[in-house]
Amino acid sequence: MKGVVLHGGAGTRLRPLTFSGPKQLIPVANKPVSQYVIEDLRDSGIKDIAVVLGETFPELVRDYYGDGSWLGVRITYVYQGRPLGIAHAVSLCRDFVGNDDFVVYLGDNLLQEGISGFLKEFVGGGYDAYILLKEVDDPRRFGVAELDSSGGLVDFVEKPEVPPSNYALVGVYFFKPVVFDIIKGLKPSWRGELEITDALRLMLKGGYRVGYGVVRGWWLDTGKKDDILYANSVILDERAKRVLKGEIINSRVEGRVMIEEGSKVINSVVRGPAVIGSGALIKDSFIGPYTSIGKDAEVINSSVEYSIVLEGASIKGVERLDESLIGRRAKVMRNSERRVVRLNVGDYSTIEI
Ligand code: DAU
Repeated sequence: MKGVVLHGGAGTRLRPLTFSGPKQLIPVANKPVSQYVIEDLRDSGIKDIAVVLGETFPELVRDYYGDGSWLGVRITYVYQGRPLGIAHAVSLCRDFVGNDDFVVYLGDNLLQEGISGFLKEFVGGGYDAYILLKEVDDPRRFGVAELDSSGGLVDFVEKPEVPPSNYALVGVYFFKPVVFDIIKGLKPSWRGELEITDALRLMLKGGYRVGYGVVRGWWLDTGKKDDILYANSVILDERAKRVLKGEIINSRVEGRVMIEEGSKVINSVVRGPAVIGSGALIKDSFIGPYTSIGKDAEVINSSVEYSIVLEGASIKGVERLDESLIGRRAKVMRNSERRVVRLNVGDYSTIEI
């Protein structure tokens, strides 16, 4: 069994952060989203993993994961470049996969229960393809499965205006190598992509065995800013532990807070769940629940809640920063002139005043 992690795509909905790196490397609770994916594969016993790279700073992905040995996996890189579709990305992995069964895991999807239970179902059930479905309120932003009254699969449709059910396709797909022959017969969709949803439909119509499992725990697709902040809150809620390794001076640290080595918390209050990265400085500030402060970031004389502050960012004199995603080495500060807002903002940024 092998794994294929999709690390390409354009990431337009996460601009401006995706101008300087792929969206799957954006950290949630100070760990890149795609690292949760690779760790889930590893913990399910899948150690041979292809990472498909896009055109947005692929070298950052190679630099971060290397050969994968530090995570206990073997990573092979496959270059896709332009995002011509999930099925296109999969087709590039044919040599890597060989005659093995494999699982495709979108690098921006997070699953509470992980995939190991579903992997057993796929292997035990003798399926050609096995997908995961999750009941959602608004299925129009996803691939959607049509089911008959006894729960049998009837069809799949990508981003339908009128969804045939509330069951969205989760970004995890198990396949036998026969899927490569199916992908060869695909034509680009209305959005110009080779859709994996169309490959699944062809398999279903062609009489191949397609099975599914229903995801009961949470599933997060971290495609937009609000999704990332929500994922951060969910992961912190579930996994943050009270570990205080940094220096804490004249401060109150409440609940499950991870204060990493080399960081300093001075004259401040930190209320969990939260994480303060290594080398960060928190001074005369309040860090509220569901906040991740990245490595070497500084928060001085400010209050930050339900936010992600990335590596090296600096926040000074800001009364209350809430629901915010602050990019690497970005600066947010109060100036001394009253009623003047002075900005130097990157393309596609959003500022709410
Ligand atoms: O998240 C689940 C959804 O993912 C499914 O319900 C949909 O059926 C499926 O098409 C997909 O929809 P999205 O519109 O969310 O796909 P997105 O373009 O965001 O790409 C998903 C991931 O795959 C993302 O990590 C980027 C990567 N990707 C995407 C394309 C199109 C690539 O690596 N290469 C590509 O060519």
